[in-house]
Amino acid sequence: MSSPRLSAIRGEIVHFVADPAHHAHALEHFADGVLVVRDGHVAECGPAPELMARLPAGTPVTDYRGKLILPGFVDTHVHYPQTDIIASHGEQLLEWLEKYTFPVERRFADPTHAAEVAGFFCDQLLRNGTTTAAAFATVHGASVDALFEAARARRMRLITGKVLMDRNCPDALRDTAQGGYAESKALIERWHGRDRLLYAVTPRFAPTSTPAQMQLAGQLFAAHPGVFLQSHLAENRAEVAWVAQLYPQARSYLDVYAHHGQLGARAVFAHCIHLDETDRRRMADTGTAMSFCPTSNLFLGSGLFDLRGARELGVRVGLGTDVGAGTSFSMLQTMNEAYKVLQLAGQSLSAAGAFHLATLGGARSLYLDDRIGNFATGKEADFVVLDPRATALLERRSAACTSLAERLFVLMMLGDDRTVAATHLMGDAV
Ligand code: GUN
Ligand code: ZN
Repeated sequence: MSSPRLSAIRGEIVHFVADPAHHAHALEHFADGVLVVRDGHVAECGPAPELMARLPAGTPVTDYRGKLILPGFVDTHVHYPQTDIIASHGEQLLEWLEKYTFPVERRFADPTHAAEVAGFFCDQLLRNGTTTAAAFATVHGASVDALFEAARARRMRLITGKVLMDRNCPDALRDTAQGGYAESKALIERWHGRDRLLYAVTPRFAPTSTPAQMQLAGQLFAAHPGVFLQSHLAENRAEVAWVAQLYPQARSYLDVYAHHGQLGARAVFAHCIHLDETDRRRMADTGTAMSFCPTSNLFLGSGLFDLRGARELGVRVGLGTDVGAGTSFSMLQTMNEAYKVLQLAGQSLSAAGAFHLATLGGARSLYLDDRIGNFATGKEADFVVLDPRATALLERRSAACTSLAERLFVLMMLGDDRTVAATHLMGDAV
């Protein structure tokens, strides 16, 4: 048997052991801390003076003193094929899909193109400190292969799936209920649970699937334990009205997904803006997650997410960039805009609340908090190293901070990919 691979990482460590909204001591902080990694997993996390003394002689130590070490960010909703239409001007959701999104997604019929974008996309995530993502591919099975290959080569934890879309879209992007089912099933068998990869059944949203396809998507989700389901929900008012027209029997937009067996643990819906209390309660009761995508919601003029309304009922919530409607791959920038969205609703997001959403909260929304999200012993050692001196302005503002909360808030308001000094997957710098 080969001996275990041991390494140590030293710096200022910040992570969550619980939700700061419910626990006074949820945030754990070691001003001079050490993370001990054994074979890619957290062996120990604690104060440096104590842990350094106990490290076996010869253990390599990476010194990040002066920088902060946090669990890798979890992006719970993003579209890799939309990388090339980020920042496209002037439309709201339904027009934006027609004008920008569908044309760019057609190009993923070409596996060479898909592979090139997938590599670029994964590298963008990593340079922003995102170590886990739930991403949409396109309707093309090869687009799923391309993203899984790229993530596997980098050892990232990644969730993706073939988009199911059998109506209300261009011919070139349309599958069929049976064809989409068969292709998804084959992809689940090929990829789900391989290395760090997980499959998500991916009906784009209720308007682009027939009831027959919605039914089969629900069946796939139910028949494969551990598989995810991702879609969009109640993002835009015109979209909500369209769903009411297409599914006249449904009580609400959410009810369409419920009727087709698409709620439950590991089901993740982006946006969730135009919902009522019955919908929110149903999401809480079924363990269905919301992905809050503030940069996208502001960019497309979709509306303001009600975090307090969701949290009060106990809904699982994560944070998503939603690139290409979202305007940044940076989860720091996404926290920045989450703060502003909530300000408009009179809800003040704390720095701890925001960093929790981006790490342990996101992991919990995806039911992955037994593997990622903090530095508890046994977790996968994915982490991000943030440099509070990354820019002249950050350095100046950080120097004036008098508390950890203030320093974290400044990082999320002024930080971006320049702030990310390093990203580690399973202990190793990438
Ligand atoms: N609803 C259906 N498809 C999409 C998409 O690609 N992006 C966003 N933001 N909303 C959607
Ligand atoms: Zn989306």
